[in-house]
Amino acid sequence: MTYARRVSSFGTTIFTEINNLAREHQAVNLGQGMPDFDGPREVIEAAAQALLSGEANQYAPGPGIPALRQGVAHHAKAFYNMDIDPQNGVLVTPGATEAVFCSIMGLVDPGDEVIIIEPFFDSYPPGVIMANARPVYVPLHPPEWTFDPDELRAAFNDKTRAIVVNTPNNPTGRVFTRDELTLIADLCKEFDVLVISDEVYEHLIYDNARHIPIATLPDMFERTVTIGSAGKTFGMTGWKVGWVYGPPELVTGVWRSHQFTTFATNHPAQKAVAHAFTMGSNYYEEYQALYTQKRDLMMQALDAAGLKSITPQGTYFVMADFSDVFDGDDVAFTKHLITEIGVACIPPSAFFSADHRYLTKDHVRFAFCKSDDTLKAAGERMAKLRG
Ligand SMILES: Cc1ncc(COP(=O)(O)O)c(C=O)c1O
Repeated sequence: MTYARRVSSFGTTIFTEINNLAREHQAVNLGQGMPDFDGPREVIEAAAQALLSGEANQYAPGPGIPALRQGVAHHAKAFYNMDIDPQNGVLVTPGATEAVFCSIMGLVDPGDEVIIIEPFFDSYPPGVIMANARPVYVPLHPPEWTFDPDELRAAFNDKTRAIVVNTPNNPTGRVFTRDELTLIADLCKEFDVLVISDEVYEHLIYDNARHIPIATLPDMFERTVTIGSAGKTFGMTGWKVGWVYGPPELVTGVWRSHQFTTFATNHPAQKAVAHAFTMGSNYYEEYQALYTQKRDLMMQALDAAGLKSITPQGTYFVMADFSDVFDGDDVAFTKHLITEIGVACIPPSAFFSADHRYLTKDHVRFAFCKSDDTLKAAGERMAKLRG
């Protein structure tokens, strides 16, 4: 007996592989996008209180607790002036990963095509494949990590049902401009295509970059589901709380899939995330300031190591070109960095389709959601690369 053909091409995720190798070699781990420090104390206290109150230790309502759905709607109003119906237009999910999966399952039919901009978050293609739909890939090109408008247009046709857009973008650190989003939006309207908009890094933006939800572009709200994550917004990846919002007709599709995937999301964590949404706007400002400092430490470390990179505009990732210090591809460099230098990163070829992997053969991804000490230790080790 063996497993289904549906999952036979999936393999082990790159994160598991790298974490195992990093542990074996006691490497400073800048691989997975997982902070090595806690999110806000008051949010953790709200979780503890929720556990001890005895009011949240049984199933939560399937679509999410009302306070959290309201929190998501208020946040969309406060930051983007969007009017969301907390009752029918918001669904709470166990992380953004489940939100993406259930969006695909609930909105895409077998045989449909789904456009995926690459490099992609690695759960997108398996989601499309499990829905018996066909992924169609459009690459971002180095060194600026922008798409070619002709390649984007060529990916759209009558079979296209949806496009998955991720901005601020993991792993490139790009924040799509209004012009880029308008190009995507115009094609979606021309070909009657839905957008699954993964905006989990909406609050991790730097300098003059501005996050624009594609749903706020003219006539796009009706055809967009927008996804967020408490893992990213409040620094609690272990809680696995995410959400989807959009027009009730689309959110209903996601909900129907969600109710038979997990039904409900961790109840005490939802109470705490509902509390997190009541924190003032200075929370987000401090969060950005904290990460701007970390980004700068990361950039100094890369520079000292002789790696070239474009300063990320968003997320806590940076793509670095190692071709001046190493002769080999991204997988070989990652292994070298872990085993010889003692720092773990991720080879981004895992985030490209086979046809486009060559685009990233000189790059690796570093995650800088780490304590300053961790980043400095990584920098000291990586300085050996130049020597
Ligand atoms: C672009 C993107 N989407 C979704 C996720 C998953 O979020 P969650 O942990 O809430 O499932 C991640 C996590 O790294 C991500 O980078």
